[in-house]
Amino acid sequence: MTHHANARPLGGGIIGLGLAGGIMAPIIAEHPGLTLAGAAETDASTRATFTADTGLPAYAEVCELLANPTVDFVYVATPHQCHRAHAVLAAEHGKHIIVEKPMALSLADCDAMIDAANANGVQLVIGHTHSFDPAIAAIRALIDSGRTGAPVSLAMWNFTDFLYRPRRPEELDSARGGGILYNQLPHQLDVARLIVNSPIRSVRAATTRLDPTRPTEGGCSAFVDFENGACATVVYSGYDRFDSDELHGWIAEGGQLKTARHGHARRMLSKIAGPEGEAAQRRVQFGYGAAGAHGNPPHQPHFGLMLVSCERADIRQSADGLYIYDDAGADEQPIIRSSWRPGRGDVLEELRRAVVDGVPPLHDGTFGRGTVEAAIAIAQSAAARREITITELAAA
Ligand SMILES: NC(=O)c1ccc[n+]([C@@H]2O[C@H](COP(=O)([O-])OP(=O)(O)OC[C@H]3O[C@@H](n4cnc5c(N)ncnc54)[C@H](O)[C@@H]3O)[C@@H](O)[C@H]2O)c1
Repeated sequence: MTHHANARPLGGGIIGLGLAGGIMAPIIAEHPGLTLAGAAETDASTRATFTADTGLPAYAEVCELLANPTVDFVYVATPHQCHRAHAVLAAEHGKHIIVEKPMALSLADCDAMIDAANANGVQLVIGHTHSFDPAIAAIRALIDSGRTGAPVSLAMWNFTDFLYRPRRPEELDSARGGGILYNQLPHQLDVARLIVNSPIRSVRAATTRLDPTRPTEGGCSAFVDFENGACATVVYSGYDRFDSDELHGWIAEGGQLKTARHGHARRMLSKIAGPEGEAAQRRVQFGYGAAGAHGNPPHQPHFGLMLVSCERADIRQSADGLYIYDDAGADEQPIIRSSWRPGRGDVLEELRRAVVDGVPPLHDGTFGRGTVEAAIAIAQSAAARREITITELAAA
């Protein structure tokens, strides 16, 4: 169903008021053309906080939110393993869907979600925040303008404290989608796929598990080969030692300014006892109302250092735009700011344009599935210590 231009704003319901849902709530509320309509969350005190803040309903059961007629779309921000069930249920209730990354943990789950959206005539956007960052769209536009030639090689580096933030037990269990492979690499893979604009042919990856008390993948080096001959080297470490924001003027992932805090996450974590304590601390530190809205950040969001080498120029993000290095020298191109929060607001806008204006989403279910495929190939390549092609993965 396509809404008319003069229709009421689209109502958004959030499923899961944790870190992702908590950040997105005010961004939905502030987005022109959208309105926040309610939430579903299993934790009673989080529901109470949400309702006290917003005056909106927060339900214990997802189906109750989906029965609310003011909800036109949902933002699925529950743990990875719930994405399939919640997206399929939303489609069956005729709601449009944004799913957080990773789309799901298996290709069969991705297929079920795509089928459910198609069968029920609803839009499905896979909301990998960082591939919606305005800088990534600007890099695409610059390449499309013909100035730089085609991208041939991407160097991507992100060094964070990921593994030492308070975690749910399944986030530290690789068998249940824990570690960085399904949580952090999908950002880099989605960005690389969007810029290169060609299917992945194969990957060769190695992963690290350096801490027996956090026994899941915390680091990865991957070589990604695209069908058109371009490649990307994708490096990630979540071990809270080097922080690659140091190479980007101490601008944090979201575009906020930060100060160097090497080892801080590890020291904070050492004060928390046991998995229950850690899960509880996660809610306090990152749940709805904690991280909260930072407002529109002073600088553009990013996901680590990325150099895009093209046939005639190299490109990387600056604080507020792009640096372009070519035969004439170095040049900085600013990014025009929109009225909504860069990155997450752009995720919402892609869904709104699909529903209201009928513009097919760039990050649709099929695109999101490709990123899951790449993450699975990386896990398999690291386990087998050999190159894995996407065709052999599909045949498996
Ligand atoms: N794009 C980003 O920048 C970004 C950031 C954080 C998380 N994420 C993604 O968002 C998803 C959630 O991660 P998170 O870090 O917010 O986790 P989280 O643990 O902080 O929050 C998850 C929330 O979902 C709730 N929940 C669990 N099961 C539920 C159910 N059946 N019904 C309703 N609520 C339920 C939990 O109580 C919790 O409040 C993950 O898939 C993650 O990869 C994306």
